[in-house]
Amino acid sequence: MMGDFHREAIVDEKTTVSRRRFVGGVATAVGVLSFKPSIDLWAQQSQQPQGGAARVRPSLDEYDSYAKLSFNENPYGPPDSVMKAMTKAFKYANRYGYPDGGITEEIAKLHGVKTENILLGAGSGEILDVAGTTFCENGKKVVGVEPSYSQVYQHATSVRGDAITVPLLADYRQDIPALIRVTKKHYRDVGFIYLCNPNNPTGRIVTKSEVKQLLDGIPEDVPVLIDEAYHHFVDNSDYATSVPYVLEGRPVIVTRTFSKIAALAGMRLGYAVAPRELIQKMRPYSMGSINAVVKWGGVAALQDTESQAKVKKVTIELRQQTIAYLKTLGYESIPSDTNFFMVHLKRPVQPVIAAFQKKGVLVGRPFPPMLEHLRVSIGNPDEMQRFNAAFKDVMGAASGGSGNGGR
Ligand SMILES: Cc1ncc(COP(=O)(O)O)c(C=O)c1O
Repeated sequence: MMGDFHREAIVDEKTTVSRRRFVGGVATAVGVLSFKPSIDLWAQQSQQPQGGAARVRPSLDEYDSYAKLSFNENPYGPPDSVMKAMTKAFKYANRYGYPDGGITEEIAKLHGVKTENILLGAGSGEILDVAGTTFCENGKKVVGVEPSYSQVYQHATSVRGDAITVPLLADYRQDIPALIRVTKKHYRDVGFIYLCNPNNPTGRIVTKSEVKQLLDGIPEDVPVLIDEAYHHFVDNSDYATSVPYVLEGRPVIVTRTFSKIAALAGMRLGYAVAPRELIQKMRPYSMGSINAVVKWGGVAALQDTESQAKVKKVTIELRQQTIAYLKTLGYESIPSDTNFFMVHLKRPVQPVIAAFQKKGVLVGRPFPPMLEHLRVSIGNPDEMQRFNAAFKDVMGAASGGSGNGGR
């Protein structure tokens, strides 16, 4: 089931550039994971199966019983306002030309742009694929950091493009000067730059001045896709959305999703905000397969900012509490501005993931090359308690039964 995988490393001044070719859409982690057809596979893959591989799912009871801290989802589900809007929209289930609540207009209004600047997708993941297809055909490359949201690199390579990735800095932030350097060096071959802000899996932001540094430092016609999937969780004055660059007419594509703060991951809705010319280039590649129900849910979600503020508050509190608890056990975490964080285990992550699963807690997959870090999504209070208890057990046992797990 795994395709061929080719990786080559080039030394580019002080920056190591890894170029990868994924044939058949293979997960970044393929080199380090031993896949078997069980729930392990389901737990460790990214949200969307790649390359047409069927995802092996647990039974319903199994699924319900897990603390689900592996996919950066919103554990609380859509608020009543959104549920009501979606329930009402079911009456359009049999229609093609149904009223859609004005979802595109509402998104455009939110960002102060025109509807011609918006492209809807069945999740922002679709937009990422559409960008890859649009800008990486004919062997063009996407430039970005690693680790990041690897679906982008996988898709670029699956459409016969390629990915050029640069490592993170020592403090796990994105290396903006390296991205500029690599883009200039490979200018003719670069299809677009991918900047995940905040980044998944690290949870770290790119500051507003770093975004400006990047945009001002690269050739002005290189498109930059700025993935703001976790925008709504950020509480940091150094961060800002990049939508104003779209208004300036720069070749910037900002992507957003309703899967995280709005709790609609299973319903599939996301969008791009970009200059008209870029939207026009991308639109022919989009499927337009968004359903009536989620369009109405999306409109209601945009209006229910109060519910989102509550989710943000409780998520940040639980993240801070969990990180503080892990610190008392002797484990440092990477500072995060999202609904997930990474803790440094000081030992290989793969067996730890499996041990958590045995205790009924699903945690993030490995993110090479950060193979001693565990990504933990913030669940509800009960799930975080289960995580804390499991962490003490698993890491205590893994550290030779010393009990404090703090070595
Ligand atoms: C950084 C990032 N971008 C995009 C996505 C895609 O999300 P969706 O397709 O559900 O909008 C995800 C999902 O986890 C993500 O982490």
